[in-house]
Amino acid sequence: MAVPLSKDLLRAEFVGKTLHEVITPAAVLDLAKVEVNCNLMLEAAQRLQLSWRAHIKTHKTEELTRLQVGDASSSPVNLIVSTILEAERVVPLLQEYRDKGRQINVLYSFPLYPSSTPRLAAISKQLGPRAVTVMVDHVDQVAYLDTLTTESGGIAPLVFLKVNVGSDRAGVVPGTSTCTSLITALLASEAAGASELLGVYSHAGHSYATREDWEAMGILGAEFEGLKEVAEEVQREQKKAHVQNPSHTTHRPLVLSVGATPTATTIQHPDLDPSSSAPSHSEPTPNPNPNTNAAAQTTHLKSLLHTLSTQNLTPEVHAGVYPTLDLQQLAAHARSAPYLHSGLIALSVLADIASVYPLRGPSGETEALVNAGSLALGREPCQEMVGGEQYRGWGIVMPWGELAAEKVPVPGEGFPREHGGWEVAKISQEHGVLRWVGGADDEVPVRVGQRVRIWPNHSCITGAGHGWYLVVDSRNTGREDEIVDVWPRWNGW
Ligand SMILES: Cc1ncc(COP(=O)(O)O)c(C=O)c1O
Repeated sequence: MAVPLSKDLLRAEFVGKTLHEVITPAAVLDLAKVEVNCNLMLEAAQRLQLSWRAHIKTHKTEELTRLQVGDASSSPVNLIVSTILEAERVVPLLQEYRDKGRQINVLYSFPLYPSSTPRLAAISKQLGPRAVTVMVDHVDQVAYLDTLTTESGGIAPLVFLKVNVGSDRAGVVPGTSTCTSLITALLASEAAGASELLGVYSHAGHSYATREDWEAMGILGAEFEGLKEVAEEVQREQKKAHVQNPSHTTHRPLVLSVGATPTATTIQHPDLDPSSSAPSHSEPTPNPNPNTNAAAQTTHLKSLLHTLSTQNLTPEVHAGVYPTLDLQQLAAHARSAPYLHSGLIALSVLADIASVYPLRGPSGETEALVNAGSLALGREPCQEMVGGEQYRGWGIVMPWGELAAEKVPVPGEGFPREHGGWEVAKISQEHGVLRWVGGADDEVPVRVGQRVRIWPNHSCITGAGHGWYLVVDSRNTGREDEIVDVWPRWNGW
C-alpha cells in the first residue's frame, strides 16, 4: 500500500515560496476558485433540497473533501471514492465528522469484486453501521455482499444498484430482465440481512459530449427518469414480498443518485430556484428534447422532482470534477457563460519552456517545448477529435506570468469550435509541444526559460501524475503566486 506523504514536510518545503521558485512540472490549485465551485454546488443542492454526495476521485485530498461537504454542522457527509485507498485514507475525516454528530457514508463506486471485500470490511468496522455503501450491477456480485457482511463482523453494507443511463460503461439497463433479476436478488439479500438496498445510482458520463448551454440538464432529467423506472420496479417487488411475508417490509425512501459534473451543475440554473415559481404539475411533463431551450428543461425538471417527492423517492445529486473544472467542462457548456468560464478553472500545470522553434508548425507557426507531457498533463482529449476546426489540443496556456499582460485568448462561448492561443499540440511522456493557434500577426512571443501555467483537458487524469497540489490563493492581491498550502494526494490503489 502507498505510504502517505507528510504534509508537514511538504509545507516546510513549499509554503511561502512563489510559483517562480519551485521545481516544475507541478500541479497548482487556486483555493479561491475551488471554494467558489464547491460553494455553488452546496448552495444549489440546498436550495433545491436535494441530497448531496461528493466524489473525491479528482483531487484525492482531505482538504478539498472538507470544502466539498461544507462545514454546516448538521448536513450528512456523503462521499464517493473511486479507489479503496481513497476510502481508507478518508476514514479519519469521516470519524471526525461522525464525532461531531454528522451522519456519514462512503460509497465505493466500482461494482464489487472478490479482492475488494476484506479492505471494505475493515473500513466498515472502523466506521460502523450504515457508513459504507457498495455498488452492484450483476447478480453474481450479490454473493459478495454476504462475504462482506461476514468479514465486517455482521455489519451489512448499504447497496446502490448501478443503472446504465446511456454511457454503456457499467450498470444494468432499466426495463430489462437483467435489471429485474438483480432487483430480485438484492431484495433477497436484504431479507437475509446481508445488505440494505439504499437506492439506485447512475453516472451520466455521456453528458461530457454536450455542446450547448444547459443542454446537460436534459440528460439530468433522463437520468432521474431512468432511475425512477428502476426504483418503481423495486417498490413493486417490495410490495409483493410484503404480501407474501408481512415481516418483509420497508418504508425507507429509495435514493435516486444521479450525476456527472455537466448534469449535476445544471441544478445551478437560476430558474430552478424553488422561490421563483412552484411546479404546476403533479405528473411529470414529457422529457423535452435535450436540445430544446433551458426554459423547457427547467420546467420539466421541477415537475419531475416534485413527482419524486410524492413517491417516497429521495433525489440525490453527485459530482466529482466540478471543484477544479477543466477544458472538457468548458467544452460541455453545461452552464452558460456567467456561471461557467475559464476564470473558474482551479487547476493548472506549472511548466517551463525549454526551447522555441520558429516556423516549425504545419502552417509555419512557432512551436515551443515544455517540460509537461502526458505524465504531467494527462492525455485526455475533449470528446470529439473530428472537425478540423475543433480544439484538438492537450491543454491551453493560461494568461499568467509574462503572458498575463498580453492578449492571449482564453476559451470562450464558442469553445471548442473557436479556440486559440498557445495550445499543447503534441504530447509524449515528458515532452509537451506548444503551438500558436491564431493569426501570425497576433502571435504572442514566448522565450526559452519562460514559466507558464497550462489548463488541462481533464483534471482527474492530470492529478494522477502528481503527488500533491501547490495551493495558491488569487484573492491575495499582490501575492497571487505565493504558495499558501500543500495538499498531498492519495494516489495508488
Ligand atoms: C461512478 C462515478 N460517479 C460519479 C462520477 C463523477 O463524475 P464527474 O467527475 O463528471 O463529476 C464519476 C466520475 O468519473 C464516476 O466514475
